[in-house]
Amino acid sequence: MATQDELKQQVARAAVEYVKDGIIGVGTGSTANFFIDELAKVKHRIDGAVASSEATARRLRDHGIEVFDLNSVDGMEIYVDGADEITENMHMLKGGGGALTREKIVAACAKSFICICDATKLVPVLGKFPLPVEVLPMARSYVARELVKLGGQPVLRDFTTDNGNIILDVHGLTIMNPVEMEARINQIVGVVTNGLFAARPANVLLLATADGVKTYKK
Ligand code: A5P
Repeated sequence: MATQDELKQQVARAAVEYVKDGIIGVGTGSTANFFIDELAKVKHRIDGAVASSEATARRLRDHGIEVFDLNSVDGMEIYVDGADEITENMHMLKGGGGALTREKIVAACAKSFICICDATKLVPVLGKFPLPVEVLPMARSYVARELVKLGGQPVLRDFTTDNGNIILDVHGLTIMNPVEMEARINQIVGVVTNGLFAARPANVLLLATADGVKTYKK
């Protein structure tokens, strides 16, 4: 039976089929890392990439792929990234690696979001994985109190984001309406963004299973 890393590699390879030319948006995390390694094999076909984190930018450059500032590009055909959880409706929960804000910004600039996951990430309801919320440091306690009012238990992560902010991981949420919850949390003053990617869901899900890579389209 394939290991989880082998499944991640399979799905990363499948995502390369979607790479045409121009500039590719690239996500963050262990599955995205496998994608970067596969992208390096076809780097002659692309102009370069926009990275969703400093870690991704370093890995892209280490492979000799040019990294562009998002402000210097008009947009992208595709953004490729993993997820911590995804539903069949293509709503995602992301940010386990803490790069959620830049991921959401780069994804917003892409025509198509291609989510690459192993089968463990497909869930009926989001929220078992603690929901990451990026917060300005001075708003930490206020935002935590507001998140408790929404029914969650926020826990401060020992981590500073690429943007110099903190992350509150919110446990105990059963997210029945991800679009509404995403908007509600983003309205709390001091929140930069939260890890629900529902208003802008994935367009394609490539899911690595024991029976091969399955494709879901929105
Ligand atoms: C990074 O901030 C996250 O959104 C990742 O994309 C997500 O956590 C998936 O990571 P893995 O591929 O490592 O599971």
